[in-house]
Amino acid sequence: MPDHDRHHDHDAPTHAHHHGSVAHEPSANWKHDYDEAYRAAEPNPGRQVVPIELETSECDWEFVPGKTTRAWAFNRCVPGPTIEAHVGDVLQIRLKNRLPEPTAVHWHGLRLPAAMDGTEMVQRPIPPEGLFLYRFKLLDAGTFWYHPHVNETVQLERGLYGPIIVRGPEEPRFDAERVFVLDDVKLGKDGQVKPPGGWMEQHSGRQGGTRLVNGREEPEITIAAGQIERWRIVNASSARSVRLSIGGAPFRVIGTGGGLIERPVTKTDWLIVAANRADLAVGPFEEGQVLRLQSVSKEGGKRGDLYATIRVGPARPSRAALPDVLRRIEPLAAGAAVPTREVHFGWKPGMKHGGHFLVNEEAHHRDKPVCVGELQIWDVINDTLMDHPFHLHGFFFQVVDINGDTPEFLSWEDTMNIPPKGRIRIAWMPDDRPGEWMYHCHILEHHAAGMMAHFEIVR
Ligand code: C2O
Ligand code: CU
Repeated sequence: MPDHDRHHDHDAPTHAHHHGSVAHEPSANWKHDYDEAYRAAEPNPGRQVVPIELETSECDWEFVPGKTTRAWAFNRCVPGPTIEAHVGDVLQIRLKNRLPEPTAVHWHGLRLPAAMDGTEMVQRPIPPEGLFLYRFKLLDAGTFWYHPHVNETVQLERGLYGPIIVRGPEEPRFDAERVFVLDDVKLGKDGQVKPPGGWMEQHSGRQGGTRLVNGREEPEITIAAGQIERWRIVNASSARSVRLSIGGAPFRVIGTGGGLIERPVTKTDWLIVAANRADLAVGPFEEGQVLRLQSVSKEGGKRGDLYATIRVGPARPSRAALPDVLRRIEPLAAGAAVPTREVHFGWKPGMKHGGHFLVNEEAHHRDKPVCVGELQIWDVINDTLMDHPFHLHGFFFQVVDINGDTPEFLSWEDTMNIPPKGRIRIAWMPDDRPGEWMYHCHILEHHAAGMMAHFEIVR
């Protein structure tokens, strides 16, 4: 493919100024890195290249049945199409931007080369009518998602996001599988998405009054009695944490952001912070049951905001088989590990952007480089009184401890809540994918205001 077909003219002006964020330029050799990553992406033996066509555009969408809203969407759907593939496949995504403003897409949770990460550090935003090709190999099974990494408080809120499912060679067997993308949208009386709000919204993060499951307000879902389903949940909200409950009925958590956990864990509610995912084994239920898929305010909470109504229909036979051991995860670090870095998430009063949202005392922080192959043990410290979902691009980490306590189970994560005035210790290994990476709070308003850091991974 000729070079100019792969990405738009790189001499086009950049549009990195959004909501007070500072302008970032990709490094001088981004095009070279991009071409190299593009060429290097070859499927594993027996696997394939999966071609995906995505188009961002404005379109009419009924978040609320019967009410038309001007949304922004991938392929005119909220959420965008579910991208499904296997470990070892190569995704080749042709992205056409038909929005009235620039965009670029981040593949949240995927371990891909830096050049394909979709941030302003590794590519120029794609101008209106521009085209960009992303191409990378899928290394891990799990539930991931894609969303723009430009003007996020507007682009995601209006509906630009979609799920990614990557299947491994061995997956537990279920009677059915569903993807539920949760969101909330702030609609005005005219039924249109409200423009970004003032100080308070920027401070607390935007929470809309219309709760969505797969782009619809409070849908009804039918499940067969006697069956066990795999539900892949993605929280695509701008800011809202969802402690999910299925009418208080027990379910089993089988996976988190970085794929399956070691063993199923039985819960009656489960916290999914903004940008995080959870895989649940749900059921069996009895015919005639009606359950509220809802968020509850605290562990063991009874009633909360409705997301969907689940109706249990006539029984069907089950062939689900959920093993006791789902996966083996080797711990990267012992509890006594010595931290290699401290990262402080902070806030200071200020008139603009809901105050100053900082990493290590600085908005849009530049953090020290990290070396390939050197184990990273980071203490991520929340100096504020709010929750901040910490997201690391491109690499999975393990949580060593939260506020000094060992987590309930070992898992791979890319997004983890840091409780108010709390601290998480994480361990991660930079494998050989040098380049510009970042971490940030995934409350979109906080990220835009500067609660983020860039850093380089070097060989
Ligand atoms: Cu899901 Cu930098 O983001
Ligand atoms: Cu935050």
